[in-house]
Amino acid sequence: MSTSSPTQAFGIDIGGSGIKGAPVDLQRGELAAERHRIPTPQPSLPDAVADTVSELISSFDVPAGMPVGVTFPAVIQQGVAQTAANVDDSWIGTDVDALLTERTGHDVFVVNDADAAGIAEMTFGAGQGVPGVVIVVTLGTGVGSAMFVDGTLVPNSELGHLTLHGAAAERYMASSAREREELDWDVWAGRLQEYFSMVEFLFSPTRIIVGGGVSKKHEKFLPLLDLKTEIVPAQLRNEAGIIGAAALASQEEHHLLAQQKKAAKQAKKAAKLEKKKAKESAKGEKKSGKKTGKA
Ligand code: BGC
Repeated sequence: MSTSSPTQAFGIDIGGSGIKGAPVDLQRGELAAERHRIPTPQPSLPDAVADTVSELISSFDVPAGMPVGVTFPAVIQQGVAQTAANVDDSWIGTDVDALLTERTGHDVFVVNDADAAGIAEMTFGAGQGVPGVVIVVTLGTGVGSAMFVDGTLVPNSELGHLTLHGAAAERYMASSAREREELDWDVWAGRLQEYFSMVEFLFSPTRIIVGGGVSKKHEKFLPLLDLKTEIVPAQLRNEAGIIGAAALASQEEHHLLAQQKKAAKQAKKAAKLEKKKAKESAKGEKKSGKKTGKA
């Protein structure tokens, strides 16, 4: 765990098709070296993915003690994946944090991919200094979201899973839906309009930031949207996950997610200690019972 403010941390973005990583300059919010990308193993089972993450880290000279942040496309609570919308079901219940820490030999900090991208935007991009409720939505294979209240992340908001037309909205309006159904930009923008109107109604955000690969083509769809809320493209694009994960890992001790992780670790430790104590006292009782029996 980091105690001072490091100037660099390592970021890794686990996606459906590629696992990407690079050291990050935390002052500038930029990659400090060219990133490496290794295709995500198929099927993307926990063991195989952990090996790939380890291979990726080993391809850089990551100093021991450098914070390592990793994004994962699922709800992450205390390092454990709780959902698996676009990854293999076997991830559900996996302690991703513990698995990657053990496999890589580095203290890894795992975070939802959209939350990581959101942190990057709030720290270095389109969300800097924006007060009130800011919502970052990533449009990709799935739809991720990061929600901030006065700059503080409300983790795992999962707004891509709001219900639209009887199913998870992401099925209808993700970037992958546009590709799968070969939708024209204006038709897809109509779907985004429905979605963002709902988000706007529910949360009255100050600003909505749209990320994901397709945000580089924002001029094809953002101008077609009619919302009360200011809606802007993300500034960090493809590297947002890597940068956000690295930034989070470096401020681990200050962050809500990290506090939860720490609390869970402490609770586990305390439970172990209790168990040990109970065992020892049971042993003691047995022994003294034997002694009194003998006497
Ligand atoms: C997952 C989210 C993830 C998003 C983008 C959704 O299907 O539920 O956790 O952030 O995809 O990858």
